[in-house]
Amino acid sequence: MTLHTYRTAGPDGSGTLPVVLLHGFPLDHRMWDAVAEALPGDRTVLAVDLPGTPGSADALPEPSLDASADLVAADLRAAGHDRAVVVGLSMGGYVALALLERHPELVAGLGLVDTKSIADTDEARANRLRIAAAAEDGDTVEPVRPMSTGLLGESSRAARPELVDQLAAWIEDQPPAGVAWSQRAMAARPDRTDVLRAFTGPVVAVVGDEDTVTPVPAAEDLVASAQDAQLVVVARAGHMSAIEDPAAVAAALADLLQRADTATA
Ligand code: MLT
Repeated sequence: MTLHTYRTAGPDGSGTLPVVLLHGFPLDHRMWDAVAEALPGDRTVLAVDLPGTPGSADALPEPSLDASADLVAADLRAAGHDRAVVVGLSMGGYVALALLERHPELVAGLGLVDTKSIADTDEARANRLRIAAAAEDGDTVEPVRPMSTGLLGESSRAARPELVDQLAAWIEDQPPAGVAWSQRAMAARPDRTDVLRAFTGPVVAVVGDEDTVTPVPAAEDLVASAQDAQLVVVARAGHMSAIEDPAAVAAALADLLQRADTATA
């Protein structure tokens, strides 16, 4: 089981949908700690450690985000949840869309944070495969160490060195084989814009206004593609908005959760 339970709904939360949080790369569920803490209300809050992370119990299959999505579905069902609001940051968003394609009956709402629905360019794909080979051959996370600064917005980099240190420590914890696996799995993912287009449930796209990895126009594209989507731009945050401004991200997700609860009631 790779499911991490932040909290379980009590009697007052019996009518609420559970929310499952899917992390970005090269991180694990801990990147959601502050958002989970800030989410209001009595509701089950879960996170998954995706394949290749220290908390993932599963042997690594062929690199594919389809496998990650199937694992999330299996974990949710094993925990007794046949419907949930699914939230993913960056790579977690790619997994959320794979889950929507492969297990649509599970998805009651979608939170797409600092992410996109399109596939990689050839150049981006080649770069991922280079990083995967370097991590694996050297048995090291060295090729992804620069992400401890690159993922943060310029405001966080300038004013909050503790966030750089936190990201660096989480990256250092990742197994090099897992880093290689995730890069190959992301390189293989298809464009899932049509999957998002077909979804009738509530969606929120959240993006830091200093995100240079999946910038604001990528989030605007998500909103334009979805049937019932809202856009939330987080000020002075980069690609790690969930770490840089967890209160703002939790507020955006709280609104999504309410919309999903209402649509399901
Ligand atoms: C992430 O934050 O998950 C990564 O930036 C995703 C990616 O490399 O596309």
